[in-house]
Amino acid sequence: MSRAVILGTGSCLPKRIVTNAELEQMVETSDEWIASRTGIRSRHIAGQGEQNFQLATKAGRRALAVTGIDPQDLDLIIVATLSPHMIMPSTACFVQAELGAENAFAYDINAACAGFTYGLDLASNYIQNRPDMKILLIGAETLSARVNWQDRNTCVLFGDGAGAVVLGGTNDERGVLGSRLHSDGALWNLLCMDSPESNNPDLRTDDWVGPHIRMNGGEIFKHAVRMMEDAVNTLLRKHGFTINDVDIMIPHQANIRILKNLRERLGVAEDKVFVNLSKYGNTSAASIPIALDEAHRQGRLHRGDLVLLCTFGGGLTWGSLLLRW
Ligand code: ACO
Repeated sequence: MSRAVILGTGSCLPKRIVTNAELEQMVETSDEWIASRTGIRSRHIAGQGEQNFQLATKAGRRALAVTGIDPQDLDLIIVATLSPHMIMPSTACFVQAELGAENAFAYDINAACAGFTYGLDLASNYIQNRPDMKILLIGAETLSARVNWQDRNTCVLFGDGAGAVVLGGTNDERGVLGSRLHSDGALWNLLCMDSPESNNPDLRTDDWVGPHIRMNGGEIFKHAVRMMEDAVNTLLRKHGFTINDVDIMIPHQANIRILKNLRERLGVAEDKVFVNLSKYGNTSAASIPIALDEAHRQGRLHRGDLVLLCTFGGGLTWGSLLLRW
């Protein structure tokens, strides 16, 4: 059976780096509070010429360059994002135009921070049916455009950026082995972002506070740890692996304390968990593909390695995915 294999990775971070010390000038916070509660020291914040689709396109170009695949040979472009450039058309359509990938169809998906992992599962299913397909999957966010910069509970957590992978089919031992994805829409209000205000007065809601990220941090923390632990253990069992078989775990980069709790519950060694959130903050759907690209460029991924992804985000959405590098 053909499997989807990652042929190349790429990423793009905005030029401007905003440190915790700079945030101290904007809201009542401190480097000590942010670093000790979250592990975040700085984040990249987009400026002019760094719209979501522009970061996404650069990340996509870099991933394509690794593979030598021409944009015209792409069959599909998927962008996972909760901060699209426009509501319509999709960010993926902007990327298609920028790349000149005229033979591809293109669309966005939104599964919040879990979007890239959902997208990888989706791309894997396409490729199982059509192994000759070439798919560009991107996670891209400009969350700086969507946070309330007066709300210290949320604005210190997020950052901007994009990561991309190019996928094709393989018949060897590599590729996506399986995934375990979940959602629980009943818990939507633990982490959410309103749309712009409705132009139809009948559709306005009393609790509308503006198109910002809102979050119940404590509840999200507890759910994230438990749900990712369950998704990882169930997936490993299903495929006959134990956590000791995993060579590298690349989790969603939200918070160092979530990752520490998760690591301890799973019993995974610290040096097997790839962490880069101190530099980037939480880049939502972009966090795992940025981390994948960084791990790849640092030589942390070797052919045949068992790679475990796990993720959690608004929706709620969460899951895990196993692939052989
Ligand atoms: N600077 C200083 N003080 C702050 C800040 C800040 N930036 N933000 C909140 N505080 C204050 C609060 O107002 C509160 O003050 P009070 O006691 O006077 O009311 C105090 O700090 C403690 O707040 P808590 O919410 O109890 O702090 P906690 O230790 O739980 O940490 C945090 C908060 C970091 C948000 C934590 O709950 C968390 O990490 N949750 C997970 C959320 C997350 O990672 N979300 C990302 C999106 S979801 C995802 O990607 C998985």
